[in-house]
Amino acid sequence: MKALVLAGGTGSRLRPITHTSAKQLVPIGNKPVLFYGLEAIRDSGIREVGIIVGETGAEVRRAVGDGSQFGLSVTYIPQEAPLGLAHCVLIAREFLGDDDFLMYLGDNFVIHGIRDFVTEFLARRPDAQLLLTKVANPSEFGVAELDQGGRVVRVEEKPKEPRSDLALVGIYMFTPLVHRIVAQLRPSARGELEITEAIQELILHQAAVSSHTISGYWKDTGRVEDMLECNRMVLENIAPRMEGSVDDESEAVGRVDIAEDAVVIRSRLVGPVSIGPGTVVADSYVGPFTSLGSGCRLDHTEIEYSIVMDHCSINGVSRIHNSLIGKNVEVSPAGPAPRGHQLVVGDHSRVRLNY
Ligand code: DAU
Repeated sequence: MKALVLAGGTGSRLRPITHTSAKQLVPIGNKPVLFYGLEAIRDSGIREVGIIVGETGAEVRRAVGDGSQFGLSVTYIPQEAPLGLAHCVLIAREFLGDDDFLMYLGDNFVIHGIRDFVTEFLARRPDAQLLLTKVANPSEFGVAELDQGGRVVRVEEKPKEPRSDLALVGIYMFTPLVHRIVAQLRPSARGELEITEAIQELILHQAAVSSHTISGYWKDTGRVEDMLECNRMVLENIAPRMEGSVDDESEAVGRVDIAEDAVVIRSRLVGPVSIGPGTVVADSYVGPFTSLGSGCRLDHTEIEYSIVMDHCSINGVSRIHNSLIGKNVEVSPAGPAPRGHQLVVGDHSRVRLNY
């Protein structure tokens, strides 16, 4: 059995972060979201992984390497443009050969791994197996309809009028039968080869399409609010660690993860909080559900429920919350006069000011 991990795409809902970074590498609890998926794949017993990469391929390759850090053997499969999830299967044909495979969307996050899902597939070996979960907003996802015996009778991609509240989680199992269907697909109205359409074709050809419904935590981390919520979830379970230093004038309350060479001076940390290697927090408040990346500097600042990526400098901001701050960002007070905000922000940035 092999795994196909999708780490291409454009990440338009996470702009401007995704102008320069792969969305699958945005950190959750100070670890790229993609790494959780790779670890879950390893823990399910799969070793051979093909990773689809697009424009941000170089960054993904740098972060994941040959996969040995995860106990995996990784092959990269470049995709010329995000032409759809089924297009990824099409271009991975040679890598996948005649093996059964797990397909994993690199921006999906499940808390309890996928071992049960893979074991169930191995025990029954249907032609395809879907992972489903109940959601409040099914029209934002692929949606499955089940018959009374739990067989999948129909799947639809982002339907306006969903027939159920069961969303397709971006984790699928297939036998090589899917290749025959994928080879015949035509682009959908949005110009993509849709995996949901391939699954629907399997159903129409009387293939066995089964499902496994999870009740545990799952997020598609495609939007900023999902990233922050996922970060909250991970930090809630983070193991406390104290490898940096906290001076006597500081206070750390609750679950706090302080990496090596991090320094906390005259500050208050209220967990759960994660502070990356070499980051300095001085005269500041870092509140619940905040991750600060590596090599950051925080002075006279209050922040909570936020993700700050590596090498940022934030100075003199009275309160930051609900924020996702990219790499190498500088936030500092403007000069005394005239009073006003001075902004140098990238395309598609969002700045919300509160006086
Ligand atoms: O997250 C679950 C949902 O994922 C499912 O419910 C939907 O049925 C499924 O179509 C998919 O919907 P999204 O709109 O979230 O897919 P997105 O375009 O965000 O792509 C998912 C991942 O696959 C993302 O990590 C980028 C990568 N990708 C996507 C495309 C279209 C590629 O690597 N290549 C591609 O061509």
